[in-house]
Amino acid sequence: MKNNQPARRLGLRGWVYAGKYSFERYLYLGHRLSGLGLVAYMVLHIVETANRMRGEQAWAELMALFASPPFKVIEYLLFALAVFHAMNGIRLFLVELAFFSGKPQEPVYPYKSSVLKHRPLTYVVMILAGLLMALGGSSLFFP
Ligand code: HEM
Repeated sequence: MKNNQPARRLGLRGWVYAGKYSFERYLYLGHRLSGLGLVAYMVLHIVETANRMRGEQAWAELMALFASPPFKVIEYLLFALAVFHAMNGIRLFLVELAFFSGKPQEPVYPYKSSVLKHRPLTYVVMILAGLLMALGGSSLFFP
């Protein structure tokens, strides 16, 4: 313990859940995890495309593997991750640029949160994300 500060015991668990969180707090969690997932995919994608250097046959075999049903599911999950991240990112752009947040108010206690003001936007964006995921899924699995 330093400077009489209480020890921060919650750690990673506290980052995921440390109390009564709003819907937007879980979107923050999802945004961070999907962002990291997309970065991990980009690295894997570079490794995967480097396989082209192993010759045409090795490449064809790899492509056949990627066309198999388990990889189709993984491909879809990746697509869903990207859709979620992009749509939630657009919501964050709008909110951080102060759209849909209501007029600024004096910070008088008990403080009012602007989260509820932009919650309709949150729902609209998430419904759109769900529709895009359904559309993408239908064209991937039922072309
Ligand atoms: C349409 C595409 C995208 C949009 C609109 C978007 C939007 C955003 C926004 C607004 C943030 C900042 C969130 C905040 O305010 O804290 C963010 C964070 C991030 N994005 Fe994206 N992004 C997109 C694509 C990508 C891609 C392709 C990757 C990975 C290759 C990526 C990786 C990340 C990561 C790692 C973070 C940091 C997350 C965190 O620390 O909480 N994003 N994105």
